[in-house]
Amino acid sequence: MRRPIVAGNWKMHGTRADNARLVEELLAGLPDGAAAECLVCPPFVYLQEVGRLVRDTPIQLAAQDVCAEAQGAFTGEVSAAMLKDVGCGFVIVGHSERRWIYHESDQLVARKFAAAQAKSLVPILCVGEQLAEREAGRTEEVVGRQLDVVLELCGVAALRAAVIAYEPVWAIGTGRSATPEQAQVVHAFIRERIGMRDAKVADATRVLYGGSVKAGNAAELFARPDVDGGLIGGASLNAEEFLAILAACGSR
Ligand code: 13P
Repeated sequence: MRRPIVAGNWKMHGTRADNARLVEELLAGLPDGAAAECLVCPPFVYLQEVGRLVRDTPIQLAAQDVCAEAQGAFTGEVSAAMLKDVGCGFVIVGHSERRWIYHESDQLVARKFAAAQAKSLVPILCVGEQLAEREAGRTEEVVGRQLDVVLELCGVAALRAAVIAYEPVWAIGTGRSATPEQAQVVHAFIRERIGMRDAKVADATRVLYGGSVKAGNAAELFARPDVDGGLIGGASLNAEEFLAILAACGSR
């Protein structure tokens, strides 16, 4: 059984006061026995403080990015060891905003994935096609390539301690989510692609969907057999919405 994950990617939003309020509201509304693991991904500067607020609670701490290098003269970068040091368990790598706005290559993303795992952080590897790629029928080619570069560098067994997030770029922040069927098709493709190397790993790997997930569409997305939760942007900044998305995974 794959335990679902609902992760809130706060992106570059919030203040110390906003974060404290949001965490307080989340903790107040979090049910006992939620089916899903619950993660929040604050900006770097707030990790330590949010980490303190969620310590000994069911909310786990994740970062939004990591440096591919272990340490050294890399001004402005944050290492995996530092993230571990302030209490992160997970880190997003290869978010489309990093790939497209900051020109991160598949190779750099794969090295970030490896750097995270070297410090026992669980990477959440984002993959996804742009609108023009989908319209050209290239979704599987693009997502397959993004995945393969990581599998080549790290090996399929590395996915035992990783999570994948399928985030079609055209669905992020646009209010236009993939339909549950569109998501399922790509999630099944991802699982098959992993399964070509190792069927057991493919079966155990959690594949989250991200892109305009809201309280109103979460349940139908999460009901698809290969959708193991969500990576939530805008809706994760509102406790009521985020808790409703978490509840859409059910209870256990
Ligand atoms: P939205 O939920 O705002 O579309 O963002 C999705 C996302 O990029 C999460 O990483």
